[in-house]
Amino acid sequence: MLDLERQNQPLRQELLDALAGVLDSRQFILGAAVGAFEAAAAETLGVTHAVGCSSGTDALWLALAAAGIGPGAAVVTTPFSFFASVSAILRAGATPVLADIDPTTFNLDPRMVEETLHGPGGDEVRAILPVHLYGQPADWNLFTALGRVHRLAVIEDAAQAWGAEWQGKKAGGLGDAAAFSFYPTKNLSAAGDAGMVTTNSDEIAERMRMLRQHGMRRRYYHDEVGWSTRMDGFQGAVLRVKLKYIAEWNRKRRTVAERYDALFRKAGLADAGPYSARGVVLPHEVEGSTHVWHQYVIRSAQRDALREFLTSRSIGSEIYYPVPLHLQTALQGLAYKQGDFPEAERAAREVLALPIFPELREDEQETVVAAIEEFLS
Ligand SMILES: Cc1ncc(COP(=O)(O)O)c(C=O)c1O
Repeated sequence: MLDLERQNQPLRQELLDALAGVLDSRQFILGAAVGAFEAAAAETLGVTHAVGCSSGTDALWLALAAAGIGPGAAVVTTPFSFFASVSAILRAGATPVLADIDPTTFNLDPRMVEETLHGPGGDEVRAILPVHLYGQPADWNLFTALGRVHRLAVIEDAAQAWGAEWQGKKAGGLGDAAAFSFYPTKNLSAAGDAGMVTTNSDEIAERMRMLRQHGMRRRYYHDEVGWSTRMDGFQGAVLRVKLKYIAEWNRKRRTVAERYDALFRKAGLADAGPYSARGVVLPHEVEGSTHVWHQYVIRSAQRDALREFLTSRSIGSEIYYPVPLHLQTALQGLAYKQGDFPEAERAAREVLALPIFPELREDEQETVVAAIEEFLS
């Protein structure tokens, strides 16, 4: 699925020098290396504030808490995401409210969100948390309009979308606040856990910085109950190095995605969608959005058998995500049931992520598509 060695090897000396710089500085938590990464990240994303923290999960909590979301508030999000999109809302003391996804993009469907706002409990909603799933921005025009009309905060789960754009504007600067993950498999990755929150609001940024250090504005004077969720110096140093290359890596991911598209079409395997018939449905890039291809996800009615076949040929694949969040054991307290979000449930049965990373070779992609062709024939 991912060969990080191909990314690390050419950068080995540069990364080691950056790590040695942190060791010598002895600034192991936040410090100059994290500050330098925060400044460069803010510039790259075109936002006024970028605040480093310890993971994407903590970034989501920080974004929500800093935007004033807490007990008594409800937040609408998607049932088809990584668990943290919902658990961070609970961790902030708020109530998650789910709405179904668009079957073409797998992203939260703004029309379903609007229905939810007019339904029971809609009055308690204070924020919307769309996820830019697989690296493609959610439909930001419609979410911005919903936020404005209903006076809601709109917060981006941009964990999978470093460098993605919506109509020329980078993810991270689209909503009131955004959360990124630098988990080692992400398109911009640390050498361990790390995350970041971004915003264009001075007030929200000040609260993010306060909340990531136990609610302190002044050392050992605690204004609020925050948490310990700071970025390590070593992670800041690694990320500062990798930030120089991410635009090029994202371009290479696009080339890989385009090659998959071409190979599937040439083999006559591309169904029209949104659901598969005899072939597979290829991922759809929405006009006006720039996908960063964190994942290349196809849809197949025979997903489980296809995956087994690929595994038997030593071809990696992954299911993001096999169980929609409303059916997770840990979230039974939300009182949803099977059938509540049919698109998310169907996607969970049919999606399959294929290997994608900047250094993936054409011959390797040919092997993947040839195996899928063999299975389907
Ligand atoms: C959509 C989404 N949100 C949140 C997270 C949480 O990030 P982390 O693993 O860095 O805590 C992830 C990463 O797995 C993710 O994919």
